[in-house]
Amino acid sequence: MTHTVPVPHGLPMERDAGPFDPPRRITRLREARPVSPMVFPDGHQGWLVTGYDAVRSLMADTRFSCRQDIGVLHLPYEVPGMPVIAGPSPQIPGVFIAMDPPDHSRLRKRLTGAFTVKRMKQLEEHIVDVAEGQLDELARLTPPVDLVKEFALPVPSLVICELLGIPYPDRDTFQANAAQFLVKDQPLERKMAAYHALTTYLSELVTGKRAAPGEDILSDLAGQDDLTIEELTGIAFLLLLAGHETTANMLALGTFALLEHPEQLAELRADPDLLPGAVEELMRHLSVVDVLYRYATEDIELGGETIGKGSTVVVSLLAADRDARQFENADDLDVHRSARGHLAFGHGVHQCLGQQLARVEMRAGFHRLLRRFPTLRLAIPADEVKLKTDMNIYGVHELPVTWTEPAR
Ligand code: HEM
Repeated sequence: MTHTVPVPHGLPMERDAGPFDPPRRITRLREARPVSPMVFPDGHQGWLVTGYDAVRSLMADTRFSCRQDIGVLHLPYEVPGMPVIAGPSPQIPGVFIAMDPPDHSRLRKRLTGAFTVKRMKQLEEHIVDVAEGQLDELARLTPPVDLVKEFALPVPSLVICELLGIPYPDRDTFQANAAQFLVKDQPLERKMAAYHALTTYLSELVTGKRAAPGEDILSDLAGQDDLTIEELTGIAFLLLLAGHETTANMLALGTFALLEHPEQLAELRADPDLLPGAVEELMRHLSVVDVLYRYATEDIELGGETIGKGSTVVVSLLAADRDARQFENADDLDVHRSARGHLAFGHGVHQCLGQQLARVEMRAGFHRLLRRFPTLRLAIPADEVKLKTDMNIYGVHELPVTWTEPAR
């Protein structure tokens, strides 16, 4: 087969097709060669997977190891000059997103009970109260205000802090440190300093919970004697990091996307029953956790190509979720469509543990925001909104919004 699209050197990540759309080069690659070789900045060759079917089967296949990197914390091949990692990286105790079975399953299964649909349903009312409380504060401010700072970040942060038993007033420390892991091209020393600060804080916290447990997820885990303090710290670190930035970006970028689609926004306001479907569609359309890394533990056939043992494989969830072979008019936002099967929460053994929580937060967040602020609009031109192209989770840095009528 001849391939018309050049092999990419480095990840083509520029958002040249619009703030919500995959880069044009990624789209072209998906159409021509959904499993494509790519050359990393350090010069070694790996693979870039962009087609829906290929991404889905890759994620379901544990021969693709997660130990290549530690998720959003450490993206080894994005930074020129980083050493080539030829084998699995050392495991960080507790950080099971970067572990393979059986280590992964041993830790994950202790948490599944805490994040079930049923548990999250029970929490729903409280999450609505949290969202309303934050909107009360927003309503007291004089617009324009930054929706990220005043709403999209505080809601999931308050919720995850409460669930984990982390004092919310400490957020300045952990949010600033957590953000360091998400900045691309960050010197390793700076990441390590932030990691050290955050894990020192969390280690003290879980040690305290082991001695004097409260009523929260970390206390429940601390009561399990076979988990070490290092493991508890790693789990706390993972949940804290995964549990607030992701949803915050979805709330802010999702609001931006809806403001850019006013007819659909009006429909959602008129009929909140559309919201659960709209949340799935926003998840699919925006796929804010776009890039994941895996590493082939043996030679593996995927989409007609052979991925050699030891290869680094980059997956684009956004490209897969915009694949027209899977979703009709895949590039259109359509709150009426069934977005079932989208990959924005991943797929396979690592599929997002917090997805039910995220869904409840997004449903409550969008519903209440739209209801309380019927005239919400951008306070700056759309092309001036600062996009997170410099971060490992996509979103907006700020979303200046305004409104004319007093909030109800
Ligand atoms: C895993 C996305 C919210 C906790 C993942 C993965 C994705 C993802 C794509 C798979 C990573 C991989 O396969 O390497 C999202 C998005 C969210 C969200 C888009 C919000 C809209 C949350 C929340 C929590 C959470 C609220 C709270 C606890 C986790 C954990 C994992 C994970 C612990 C690792 C699971 C494992 O390795 O078994 N998430 N997530 N996420 N997520 Fe989420």
